[in-house]
Amino acid sequence: MANTILVGAQWGDEGKGKIIDVLTEQADVVVRTQGGNNAGHTVFIGKQKYILHLIPSGILRKKKICVIGNGVVVDPVGLVGEIEGLRKIGVKVNGNLYVSETAHVVFPYHRELDAQREVLKGKNKIGTTKRGIGPAYGDKAARVGLRMIDLVNAERFKEKLEAKIKENNEVLKAFGAKPLSFKEVHAAYRKAGDYLRPFVTNTVTLLHESVRRGDGILFEGAQGTFLDIDHGTYPYVTSSNTTAGGACTGSGVAPNRMDRVVGVLKAYTTRVGEGPLPTENAEIADMLHAMGREFGATTGRPRRCGWFDSVATRHATMVNGIDDLAVTNIDGLDTVETIKVCIGYRDGKKKYDYVPNDIEVLARCEPVYAEFPGWRTPTHNARSWKDLPAKARSYLKAIAELSDAKLFIASVGPGREQTIFV
Ligand code: IMP
Ligand code: MG
Repeated sequence: MANTILVGAQWGDEGKGKIIDVLTEQADVVVRTQGGNNAGHTVFIGKQKYILHLIPSGILRKKKICVIGNGVVVDPVGLVGEIEGLRKIGVKVNGNLYVSETAHVVFPYHRELDAQREVLKGKNKIGTTKRGIGPAYGDKAARVGLRMIDLVNAERFKEKLEAKIKENNEVLKAFGAKPLSFKEVHAAYRKAGDYLRPFVTNTVTLLHESVRRGDGILFEGAQGTFLDIDHGTYPYVTSSNTTAGGACTGSGVAPNRMDRVVGVLKAYTTRVGEGPLPTENAEIADMLHAMGREFGATTGRPRRCGWFDSVATRHATMVNGIDDLAVTNIDGLDTVETIKVCIGYRDGKKKYDYVPNDIEVLARCEPVYAEFPGWRTPTHNARSWKDLPAKARSYLKAIAELSDAKLFIASVGPGREQTIFV
């Protein structure tokens, strides 16, 4: 397999977990390069449902090397829980998972600060997953974070943690929050550090050996383009680069070693948390929730839903350099009579064919819609392009064209077998 960067082309939850799992069959190595356990990648294998937060979905296939890169922020206690959870259901996690020694560590004070800042923001809150992601990346940028290499060095860790707890307790007190016990945090993190020591390594040199060998590497993106810290709807974003460039900085594999970018998108739009969502629509949200769809994998929150927004996905193609598109959740539209697709935004007299940077403008924008006839036939049993109803094929072709990239995969359900290569 060509070295492939996979990104979410919308607001996250595009169904990346499943597409990664399918593409992993051809890959040798799967790498996570950004985000933390705010992500929730759901994969079904037969009837068994797996939700992965930190570990690359590649772990579910035999003989694949999984890497948590330097760009990820790691909650070590959460990671141990995830490894244990997988082992309990018979998934081998031994010699096939590596964690970067320069990945930053998420601490309980990051989670607490995440929660406190949200409270302080009141109605302007971001709607974070409260996993401490923003404060952890904040410490990284401020050069006051601790890294996995510190965690696994017991003596150094104790000393550094003591200072960090002291400092952060002052901040927590100023928020009126409860200070943390150094002893408790230290005990829990020491235990996690001991457990994780065999996994922690120099993943940059490891990946370069892979590149030299000619292995196929899949870079698995988390979250989506419009949650990117630079290119998303700031400040309603996550704290990492979710776009394709993040795969390079978050792994140490250079841009000229990358061959291809795959963008994953839903046949409609969803978003969890606050922030503008131009095509949001209550009817489609009610319909999808009534079908039992669109509840967050990490927090269980019902996702906000809307029509497909091709202004957004075209923008995603531009900033990620998307070559190929994987469209998921097509079956979610099976019962809709007339499907709308946003082809432009209007703010009063001003028209936009790109996503404006000012989120106050974006929040005011009214979508301009094109309409497509629904196919009103179940699609979940389709196994080839020809099996899809003609109206579904036209719709998919249209949204790929509007998104300015090639249609590569059409997915009609969570199962591996519900994947159509176009
Ligand atoms: P944070 O990443 O927890 O700071 O949350 C920031 C924003 O990103 C919130 O709107 C979250 O709902 C959203 N978010 C974070 N991770 C994911 C994800 O994996 N899928 C979808 N939305 C996410
Ligand atoms: Mg998700």
